[in-house]
Amino acid sequence: MVGGHGHRARLLNPCPALYRPVGDVLKEPTVAEKIRLLRELREKAKLGGGPERIKRQHEKGKLTARERIEALLDPGSFVELDAFVVHRCYEFGLEERRYLGDGVVTGYGTIDGRLVFVFSHDFTVFGGSLGEMFAKKVCKIMDLAMKVGAPVIGLNDSGGARIQEGVASLGGYGDIFFRNVLASGVIPQISAIMGPCAGGAVYSPALTDFIIMVRGISHMFITGPQVVKAALGQEVSFEELGGADVHAQLSGVAHFVVDTEEECFELIRRLLSYIPSNNMEDPPYVETGDDPARTDERLNSLIPDDPDKPYDVKEVITSVVDNGEFLEIQPDFAPNIVIGFARLNGHSVGIVANQPLWFAGALDINSSCKAARFVRFCDAFNIPIITFVDVPGFLPGIEQEHGGIIRHGSKLLYAYCEATVPKITVILRKAYGGAYDVMGSKHSGADINFAWPTAEIAVMGPEGAINIIFRRQLAGAEDPEALRRKLVAEYRRKFANPYVAAQRGYIDDVIEPSETRPRLIAALEMLLDKREARPPKKHGNIPL
Ligand code: HXC
Repeated sequence: MVGGHGHRARLLNPCPALYRPVGDVLKEPTVAEKIRLLRELREKAKLGGGPERIKRQHEKGKLTARERIEALLDPGSFVELDAFVVHRCYEFGLEERRYLGDGVVTGYGTIDGRLVFVFSHDFTVFGGSLGEMFAKKVCKIMDLAMKVGAPVIGLNDSGGARIQEGVASLGGYGDIFFRNVLASGVIPQISAIMGPCAGGAVYSPALTDFIIMVRGISHMFITGPQVVKAALGQEVSFEELGGADVHAQLSGVAHFVVDTEEECFELIRRLLSYIPSNNMEDPPYVETGDDPARTDERLNSLIPDDPDKPYDVKEVITSVVDNGEFLEIQPDFAPNIVIGFARLNGHSVGIVANQPLWFAGALDINSSCKAARFVRFCDAFNIPIITFVDVPGFLPGIEQEHGGIIRHGSKLLYAYCEATVPKITVILRKAYGGAYDVMGSKHSGADINFAWPTAEIAVMGPEGAINIIFRRQLAGAEDPEALRRKLVAEYRRKFANPYVAAQRGYIDDVIEPSETRPRLIAALEMLLDKREARPPKKHGNIPL
């Protein structure tokens, strides 16, 4: 051990111990001794909170901070910074407990040869809790990542603010939050939750672009089960309050849930393959080997003859994109809209699609927020947006109205209008009402709008429309049902097609479903060099 100290040494300046008294003078250490000290310190830093706590971490089924980095990055690519940082706290005996690195491993390396910055909480040191110097380490790599334009990946496993450091740790969090916001839309930020993440600490991941939670070992909440019990008398477990499945299905906080840490690293690597390193770059082009001219006859019979029958829009997506590979985001939250990344002839695209299997594909509060955030991510990072539309409108109901569907639905509208990346839309079937405008319509600035011959574009569905415009006639009719059927048929004859919109140029072309892939690729490649300006402003005021 360095200087003869144990693992909990008062690790301030380790060098004086090298100076040995010889007679009345202190003997200078040799170069070899200085190098040996460096090596010892490095080895010590690697042990974090020590072998006993590393063992405990493994017993919980968790990797250590360093093992995680090794598993995530290209082998041998990690370069650590600040391994010698220690805290400077003198409260509650902390001065007797200093660990090299101070509970977080930071640095840079590569994923598929591309530069990334990483911080990884070390739970073996004060439970990964964040203090002043810990925060400075995280801020340092965030600042570097911003300067060079590379993603930041955070591996979170922390008891939150380091209680002994008081306001210095709150300040440290604040410094990180500030950088999260500055980096937003400039470099991609990805958060993996691999342990506890509680209190205000959740807001750093929440400010990043993607949150991945590892089932069973991660939880996120503002106040834990004990506080919930004390304040409200409610009994709830960690898992029920803030486990991975809760955030994937109910709150929408998590974008992905995985079963193991290894899956988490694989997912991060896959996710990055669709995303550029910063907002000045195009997304990576990947040779996929899939024929851009490939057609799919199955799509010609996918839409049922009965307009009220559902089908799975994911069949359209996987048929059209390269090799059927689709990285779905938030699959279990608001499944009435489907979002995710794919490639078209090797070009990365963001897909947004109404899902008729849920609420007939209607837009509600959650699906609007989910898709709006995604559209804004794609726009920030130069990823073209492909929209597949089959939407009967916004979901009606007291719950939705009182929940603020007006406010939330407008987020999606705002996001589409604001986006200047290439936008291509295909109306598969229904495009009713305000939802027609919202879902990547020509009027919201889409560049190319296709419709399948099965498209129905109207102010509202036939039943609702007839009830309104023929209310008096229906009320006075001898046989209102027969009249209603006749009027509905008439309405469908007039409006349940794409040609009225095509006559006005709102639809650029009506295409056979089977040729969707080649038509999308041709449109996308035509648009790749698109440049579109918006009026200069500080920033807009998206309805939050
Ligand atoms: C200092 C902490 C700590 C903290 C844990 N430790 N949390 N030290 N500050 N916040 C230390 C423990 O003292 C212990 O040290 C070691 O980490 C491991 O903790 P255990 O409790 O033994 O582990 P475990 O049983 O796995 O429980 C983990 C835990 C629990 C669930 C995270 O420790 C816990 O509830 N901690 C407090 C969480 C919390 O309320 N944090 C504040 C949130 S508020 P030794 O030396 O014994 O190994 C917040 C505000 C941020 O973060 C605001 C930003 C604006």
